[in-house]
Amino acid sequence: MSAVETVKVTVDGREVEVAKGTGVVEAAAAAGIESPVFCYEPRLGPPVGACRMCLVEVEGVPKLQAGCTLTAQDGMVVRTAGASEKAAEGQNATLEFILVNHPLDCPVCDKGGECPLQDLTFRYGPGQTRMTFPKRTFDKPIPISPTIALDRERCILCYRCTRFSSDVAEDGQLVARNRGAQSVIATFEDEAYRAPFSGNVIELCPVGALTSTQYRFQGRPWEIQNVPTVCGLCPVGCNISATTREGKVKRIISRNHPEVDEGWLCDKGRFAYPHLYAHDRLVDPLERLRGRGFTEISWDAAIDRAEELLRGAGGRIVTALSGSETVEQAYALGKLLRQGLGAHSAVLPEATSSALDAFRAPLSTIAAAELVVVLGDEAVADRAPIVDLWIRQARRNGAEVVEVVEAKLGKKLEERVSGSDRAVLIWSGRGGGGGARLAELGHRLGLDGKPGCAAFHLPGTPNGRGVADAWAACSDAEESNPEPIGLLIVSGDEAAADPAV
Ligand code: SF4
Ligand code: SF4
Ligand code: FES
Repeated sequence: MSAVETVKVTVDGREVEVAKGTGVVEAAAAAGIESPVFCYEPRLGPPVGACRMCLVEVEGVPKLQAGCTLTAQDGMVVRTAGASEKAAEGQNATLEFILVNHPLDCPVCDKGGECPLQDLTFRYGPGQTRMTFPKRTFDKPIPISPTIALDRERCILCYRCTRFSSDVAEDGQLVARNRGAQSVIATFEDEAYRAPFSGNVIELCPVGALTSTQYRFQGRPWEIQNVPTVCGLCPVGCNISATTREGKVKRIISRNHPEVDEGWLCDKGRFAYPHLYAHDRLVDPLERLRGRGFTEISWDAAIDRAEELLRGAGGRIVTALSGSETVEQAYALGKLLRQGLGAHSAVLPEATSSALDAFRAPLSTIAAAELVVVLGDEAVADRAPIVDLWIRQARRNGAEVVEVVEAKLGKKLEERVSGSDRAVLIWSGRGGGGGARLAELGHRLGLDGKPGCAAFHLPGTPNGRGVADAWAACSDAEESNPEPIGLLIVSGDEAAADPAV
């Protein structure tokens, strides 16, 4: 393996050695020096140098340089605002320039308190304005989608949102209209921004120009808690934080896991949380009375009634699981029923196979693949939305993506997969024995044990595999099939809708 070529750079008097091609902002970070930035966001692709917030002084270069677009060279001596009056003046002027039109809206802006523009102005900007003329205004807020509002006068034209739309989600729906000082962010032909990953632009926006219509005016940063958790709406399990205020979930935001979600969320994961408070959601126990429908009962009465039914069934119990339970819920249910009552019979949400364990790899493996083969009859974006973003990233990185609906590769494609060091198979659809067929294929093509290769089976339920494992872990007794069934326990809507139940 050839050694990585490196260069030595000095940032604010600290020498660091970084890989050749590294940008000055990253080299400064390697030296432990933070650069203030607005437009710089490596997940969006190459830097664009739009905001000039990262200005640095480079020895021997007369003008200040944008650190994000400048590549570190061997022997380069860089001074950031912390060590250079000239760089500090440049950053101060950049902020003064941005604030010429940015309104001083902070007390009524939803970004206030968690806003990079506020923070950087406080740290690097002028304490007061010299501009006395009126600022530019627009109609506001513009509902660019049912979930996103645009306050155009707050926009600092960093192009993070448009770059996400065109270069990451590839929906091409957010655009910059006009040129120069007249530039504004808009949707393509003023159509609503309807795309599966649109909500990410809210988090990317470094000011309060793009805000969530669900969260606007719902809480201030000092009134909320961001509780780390995991999205349970599809098998990906994106890392998220649930923003709560007074015990209620008010917002879902990403919590970057570079191997799972890279900090992106799909709109289902981000915006579906109001179902927690749906008016028709069951929050108290109901008892069905023969011929008289349901009636509300207290928790104590419900627990007594459940105990009576469970004891009365004498073990002739079948449990139907949905696959949307958490591992802990499934395990607790299994403990009670299997260990407590000897009721081992279950209808599991879907078939699962442990054969795929030989191909375990992080989802980020997809981005580095040279050949991605998607098998199955269901769109990846529907089964596991974030996997669709990983596949798009792989394609942008030069990978060939082949879709095989009938789940048969053909001889030529099989040869290419087995001859590749970076091939990934993805099963998105029905059948497949819970990954068994995919594992068999991967094994036949020699993918097991190859570090850059992987095989992913996208289950039809968010946690079918976890539920099956948790249920199995509760007892090693054989499953029994009681005849006749004394009691059927149905866990969740999906199980209730399962024809097998
Ligand atoms: S709307 Fe926000 S993310 Fe988009 S260009 Fe303006 S400031 Fe940047
Ligand atoms: S991709 Fe799946 S896990 Fe991630 S946010 Fe969307 S629904 Fe949730
Ligand atoms: S962060 Fe460098 S120009 Fe915007």
